[in-house]
Amino acid sequence: MIVVAAGSGSRLGRPEPKAFAPLRDRIVLEHALAGVAGMRTPVEVVVVAPESHLAAARAAAPGATVVPGGPTRQDSVARGLAALSAPVRIVLVHDAARALTPSALFDRVVEAVREHGEGVVPGLAVADSLKRVAPDGAIDGTVDRTGLAAAQTPQGFPRGVLERAYAAAERVETDDAALVAAIGHPVRLVPGEALAFKITTPVDLSRATEILGGAQRTGVGVDAHALEPGTPLWLGGVPWPDAPAGLAGHSDGDVACHALVDALLSAAGLGDIGSRFGTEDPRYAGASGATFVREAVALLAGEGWRVLGASVEVIANAPRIGPRRAEIEAVLSALVGAPVTVSGTTSDGLGLTGEGRGVAAVATALLARA
Ligand code: CTP
Ligand code: MG
Repeated sequence: MIVVAAGSGSRLGRPEPKAFAPLRDRIVLEHALAGVAGMRTPVEVVVVAPESHLAAARAAAPGATVVPGGPTRQDSVARGLAALSAPVRIVLVHDAARALTPSALFDRVVEAVREHGEGVVPGLAVADSLKRVAPDGAIDGTVDRTGLAAAQTPQGFPRGVLERAYAAAERVETDDAALVAAIGHPVRLVPGEALAFKITTPVDLSRATEILGGAQRTGVGVDAHALEPGTPLWLGGVPWPDAPAGLAGHSDGDVACHALVDALLSAAGLGDIGSRFGTEDPRYAGASGATFVREAVALLAGEGWRVLGASVEVIANAPRIGPRRAEIEAVLSALVGAPVTVSGTTSDGLGLTGEGRGVAAVATALLARA
């Protein structure tokens, strides 16, 4: 198996070569290799990488042979071919850029090469109408789609056939099947897979991200603290100097901020305020709610998450949120770097909050991949 990953990805337009671009939790090359690793039969893998990214390719492909690529895809495949070990009889050539290719397609191609002893190309029927266009933009005609297929990878070949095709190559072709056909060797089609699409442009990368899921996540947080007469009250990141009681707790007891922090952390799968900041940690003794919110947002950013928005509801008889809603929303929004809305309710005289013994808050947050 030769996985070619040595292209620059000029049409994708990212700073790193395309196979090393982040795609959700891993790089493009790692996703491609996960498809290979899921094959029924284990295979020898040669990864062809850009000279500048040989170490990164080795890290992404433990157990694979990594060799530097050449100026064209064809050069890169040739270098991969030269690095295969002697016993290999069937060679698959695969674009790392087809990062979501299902393992079943690799198996299908291997089986077809075994069965027919010929070159095998996975392909899909062409969906769009095809037009022949003159240089001035005039349409000269419509190409009949019957019998046409869009070729994908992995393409599979008996090793000797592929080596002969490469040795005889006289010009640069767009794929390996074309080189094999050029030496007169038969190549046949097997059904391709929609998921084997090639990541070429930024839209393709967004599509792959969406297919993998997890592009957006929601989280929820809840907190409650007892009211303590004589303690200064902090709620929603602002002080309430006229309040007769404040909230008990190791920190400033700001339940609105704490619920918000839990919502942010849970959305990112980063646990909760207790496990992240340690309520017993002396560093956080008396810490303001704002401190926790700021640190949670920084943690999220470090994991590649961006906050799209959050919402907090305070459950209390007093203080009334309404008169200071705009102020609290401005403070929390500035801390989070995204719109945070705030609301308030009572619990109809029931429970901790209704009996005026404490204050609670519930929050939700929505995150997106940065
Ligand atoms: N490839 C390669 N060596 C090259 C050129 C391409 O190994 N000199 C690989 C790419 O890494 C990719 C596959 O061939 O996995 C298909 O090529 P393509 O999608 O065209 O990738 P790039 O050439 O990197 O992208 P672009 O054409 O947009 O620059
Ligand atoms: Mg290219």
